[in-house]
Amino acid sequence: MKVAVLGAAGGIGQALALLLKTQLPAGSDLSLYDIAPVTPGVAVDLSHIPTAVKVKGFAGEDPSPALEGADVVLISAGVARKPGMDRSDLFNINAGIVRNLIEKVAVVCPTALIGVITNPVNTTVAIAAEVLKKAGVYDKNRLFGVTTLDVIRSETFISELKGIDIADVKIKVIGGHSGVTILPLLSQVKGVSFTDEEVAALTKRIQNAGTEVVDAKAGGGSATLSMGQAAFRFCMSLIRGLQGEANVVECAYVDGGSEFAPLFAQPILLGKNGIEQLLPCGELSEFEIKARDSMLDTLKADIQLGVDFVK
Ligand code: NAI
Repeated sequence: MKVAVLGAAGGIGQALALLLKTQLPAGSDLSLYDIAPVTPGVAVDLSHIPTAVKVKGFAGEDPSPALEGADVVLISAGVARKPGMDRSDLFNINAGIVRNLIEKVAVVCPTALIGVITNPVNTTVAIAAEVLKKAGVYDKNRLFGVTTLDVIRSETFISELKGIDIADVKIKVIGGHSGVTILPLLSQVKGVSFTDEEVAALTKRIQNAGTEVVDAKAGGGSATLSMGQAAFRFCMSLIRGLQGEANVVECAYVDGGSEFAPLFAQPILLGKNGIEQLLPCGELSEFEIKARDSMLDTLKADIQLGVDFVK
């Protein structure tokens, strides 16, 4: 397996690269790319860790050498939020960065599985899809908006609130990846029940958890370490699917023919070609149906912004 990380010198990129260097299957290749000149040095640094994963670093304007032969491409290149910023405030800078990188992916490794981390994910995934369509290489089963951070945050907060073992908490988070578009399906979590007040408060906390980190870092950026772990988990699931492991399920923001929006985060079964099967979201509570329906205008507008950007 070869995994390429674009934006690898950043906060997320370095955390993710460390996890991948230490835990990718033996014999894997890890390719790190960033415009920052330090990137080859990040790779040299990681290369001293004694694992059977080869790591190479690339800097400069062209990501192509880093992408050659990649099975999985993870993109965290771009700017992150500062206090007072919304994810949509990142659009002006990050839209162009994602477009340019995906244009290269479309040429160099068009069949790779692509995980987009760069915010605003609701829009950058739409940009990626349009660029791939333009290049004639779009496969909706191979493009993912990485929403795993919403899942791991939900798992953590539920475990803390209810005092249950984190290993026993499983949750679907559907919709998108910003504010009200993040919808954790608390009603489906097995083995716990929540009061209406708990559902309202916990949903809000999960939706605003990114801002919790942005404010706590006080101008120093947004979630990087927890996001590194989330991207690592998602990447490992992609790889387990590629390697033919059965029952690999994650939630991700995908083009799944959802009746709600052209792109929608939902559970998916992963396999040798990316998405093997779209899984149902299951039964929603009244609270969740209302939250889902009221997010759709926001989500669809975010998607349209990406479509229009590429046009
Ligand atoms: P960072 O600023 O620490 O790192 C970003 C890196 O991207 C920098 O090293 C920079 O040199 C690089 N970069 C900029 N333009 C580039 C280009 N054209 N090609 C290659 N590399 C380029 O930011 P951080 O904290 O790592 O966040 C990265 C992105 O991830 C942000 O957009 C942030 O909003 C997003 N994010 C997404 C989350 C999610 O759940 N999907 C969670 C947290 C952050």
